[in-house]
Amino acid sequence: MSKTISFISPKGGVGKTTVTILLANIFYFYFGWKIVVIDADFPQNSVAKRRKKELAEMEENPRLKKLYDILYAGRAPYPIIATNIASCPNRIAEWKDKVDFILVDITGTLNKPNLFDLLLEINHFLIPVRQDEFSLISAIEFYVTLYKNVRPESTCFQDCQLFFNHVPHKHNLPAILADIPKQFKFLSGHIAQHSAYEHTYRTTLYPIPKGKKEGAKLFEFAQQLHHLLAPVAAV
Ligand SMILES: Nc1ncnc2c1ncn2[C@@H]1O[C@H](COP(=O)(O)OP(=O)(O)OP(=O)(O)O)[C@@H](O)[C@H]1O
Ligand SMILES: [Mg+2]
Repeated sequence: MSKTISFISPKGGVGKTTVTILLANIFYFYFGWKIVVIDADFPQNSVAKRRKKELAEMEENPRLKKLYDILYAGRAPYPIIATNIASCPNRIAEWKDKVDFILVDITGTLNKPNLFDLLLEINHFLIPVRQDEFSLISAIEFYVTLYKNVRPESTCFQDCQLFFNHVPHKHNLPAILADIPKQFKFLSGHIAQHSAYEHTYRTTLYPIPKGKKEGAKLFEFAQQLHHLLAPVAAV
């Protein structure tokens, strides 16, 4: 049985799409999980567009083409499905039981029609938060909404955690976390702010270099998710 997870937030620009691409990379290449990314952020569909762009670049660049051929040896990269909110539950249904994890990227504007129906299909919510007060307040309000409004109506809801993304080198997360009531489940790990996460590591085709410092840090964060999510990874 697949687990459907979503990096989701009521706030735009907190890194939902970036984190989806970065963690899909580690789940697929390093954890060996069978995944599909469903990109429901219509009409941007930036994950699907990124894949298309990377494939076109690969076709043009002999070095990348060679790397691709060695890496995939006739197989296909993990699938990325472009859709919209209304059709997303059907896309999820099509992939259930075909993969270990379905990652759903949803728009930042959450007052869209049909969104509630989509939220009812998600098993595990992960809410990225930036360090600023407004981001934190809206994330916590959303967490409460998920527990109060979605969970009672859902047969799929399993869990929900918050975590910090885009954390600058100098930060005071321990102090911030200490002030947050324990009822709100925060992951102890976070994702740093780093230019590699915006550019080179945001690839849908090639493994993130885990030997490099920023790759290793991301891997460490992903391992925390491995503990939370792994029990179902057995298709
Ligand atoms: N950890 C990070 N380090 C550096 N840059 C980051 C990080 N996370 C996100 N960003 C940058 O922040 C910006 C917003 O990220 P992204 O588009 O992933 O957010 P989003 O929540 O999906 O936005 P939207 O609500 O528009 O869908 C992008 O420029 C992205 O590169
Ligand atoms: Mg996005």
